[in-house]
Amino acid sequence: MEFLWKTLMRIHVIRTFFALLLVALLSSEGVESRKAKVVTTSLEYNAINCRAHSASLTDFGGVGDGKASNTKAFQSAISHLSQYASEGGSQLYVPAGKWLTGSFSLTSHFTLYLDKDAVLLASQDITEWPVLEPLPSYGRGRDAPAGRFTSLIFGTNLTDVIVTGENGTIDGQGEFWWQQFHRKKLKYTRPYLIELMFSDNIQISNLTLLNSPSWNVHPVYSSNIIVQGITIFAPVTSPNTDGINPDSCTNVRIEDCYIVSGDDCVAVKSGWDEYGIKFGWPTKQLMIRRLTCISPYSATIALGSEMSGGIQDVRAEDITAIQTESGVRIKTAVGRGGYVKDIYVKRMTLHTMKWAFKMTGDYNSHADSHYDPNALPEIKNINYRDVVAENVTIAARFQGISNDPFTGICIANVTLRMAAKAKKQPWTCTDIEGMTSGVTPPPCGLLPDQGPEKITACDFPADSLPIDMLELKKCTTTMTFVGV
Ligand SMILES: *[C@@H]1O[C@H](CO)[C@@H](O)[C@H](O)[C@H]1NC(C)=O
Ligand SMILES: *[C@@H]1O[C@H](CO)[C@@H](O)[C@H](O)[C@H]1NC(C)=O
Ligand SMILES: *[C@@H]1O[C@H](CO)[C@@H](O)[C@H](O)[C@H]1NC(C)=O
Ligand SMILES: *[C@@H]1O[C@H](CO)[C@@H](O)[C@H](O)[C@H]1NC(C)=O
Ligand SMILES: *[C@@H]1O[C@H](CO)[C@@H](O)[C@H](O)[C@H]1NC(C)=O
Repeated sequence: MEFLWKTLMRIHVIRTFFALLLVALLSSEGVESRKAKVVTTSLEYNAINCRAHSASLTDFGGVGDGKASNTKAFQSAISHLSQYASEGGSQLYVPAGKWLTGSFSLTSHFTLYLDKDAVLLASQDITEWPVLEPLPSYGRGRDAPAGRFTSLIFGTNLTDVIVTGENGTIDGQGEFWWQQFHRKKLKYTRPYLIELMFSDNIQISNLTLLNSPSWNVHPVYSSNIIVQGITIFAPVTSPNTDGINPDSCTNVRIEDCYIVSGDDCVAVKSGWDEYGIKFGWPTKQLMIRRLTCISPYSATIALGSEMSGGIQDVRAEDITAIQTESGVRIKTAVGRGGYVKDIYVKRMTLHTMKWAFKMTGDYNSHADSHYDPNALPEIKNINYRDVVAENVTIAARFQGISNDPFTGICIANVTLRMAAKAKKQPWTCTDIEGMTSGVTPPPCGLLPDQGPEKITACDFPADSLPIDMLELKKCTTTMTFVGV
């Protein structure tokens, strides 16, 4: 006993752990079959910051049987760990098991770490999902005008927050929500899996996200964000299961993600019509790289349709899409205002696509009837290069807005091999202006071919974004906790 005690003293553990260990040891004397065991594990991962304090969900009464609700265990664990924010921060370890939970909120200087065999199961008890006000830049919820259910993992006004794991799983059990959506039974907008609002220094990495009720990852009004190594699966017919949606965010890096979903794999947004114009928070300085997407009814990368706060300086490279409706899609409408400009996409490999490129100004879904018909979006400086595609039905649909043309479109070194059943006219172009070089099939007259010597003429930036300078630290922790 004394030996065990001394050993434990050398390990940096929190007070709650000792309290629970004592309870466990005392109670185990009488009830042999319920003997709690002390487990030691070491965590190794790369992160924007390492943490000084650790605890396990089981230290707070978590039960990983897939049946008991762990909402209170998450809430009390995170509330307890929040006291270490100014003392080196803390991490909460979720061990192997099935952890049913409703919505819970994160804290600052905090890491939520999922074991490789941990599965968070989203509760289907509606009382476990508090309701929030609509987002100010949208004016209303997307499924219903009133409030919106809080995301499964939520955070607002935080700094330095990480959700990671060794490819541990978060399962939204979305079927329940999709049915309510289809039957028009929702009083509020469906929850997302992970949402961080008004936050700075965010890392979401090495997780598998399954069957989200709606969008998967939604950073909004936030900055300095890394989303890395995320695998997302949702049925390709599930409603609005967008992959990753940076929304009014600055300095974002999305990399090494694999997404199969029922909506856009990455959808870049910044608010809706008059609400987004008034709020005025753009998304800018966004890098998307090494993304693989399968989404037969939606886009690999969508910009909009909610882009009223503006979208600027988006860079995408090494993008692969298979059986996806479109490669890059810009969606906007009269009434949106805002802008989409300085977009640079290179090295896309596409297979079986309806449209390689799509850009339209008639995406007329409005928050309400009060949108300003004079609020015209500005779409300019859109660059695509080094694209190879197979089995394409339509090369591009480029449809600007009359008296508001989309300008500065530059496409170079693009080879689109058309499907046997391709449309006769591969390009449709109206109210646009730009140029091309080295593009097959030959583009429309509004994008005149400048000849092969202009193949590097699209002006891609040579600098890096500030988020690319950020290097992750190697974090190693040995922690001891009450096993189950
Ligand atoms: C994610 O896991 C991969 C290995 O599977 C590793 O190389 C990478 O550093 C991890 N990323 C983070 C942010 O932990
Ligand atoms: C969070 O930050 C926003 C923007 O600074 C502010 O308007 C809001 O009141 C803050 N919310 C909370 C809960 O502190
Ligand atoms: C993570 O898990 C998913 C689902 O099992 C799998 O498809 C994916 O390949 C895994 N990723 C890594 C990096 O192991
Ligand atoms: C080409 O695309 C069509 C759908 O447009 C699909 O049915 C067909 O299987 C694809 N062919 C190949 C070789 O992938
Ligand atoms: C054209 O694109 C292909 C791949 O898509 C690339 O290998 C090649 O280097 C590019 N050519 C130029 C001149 O950049």
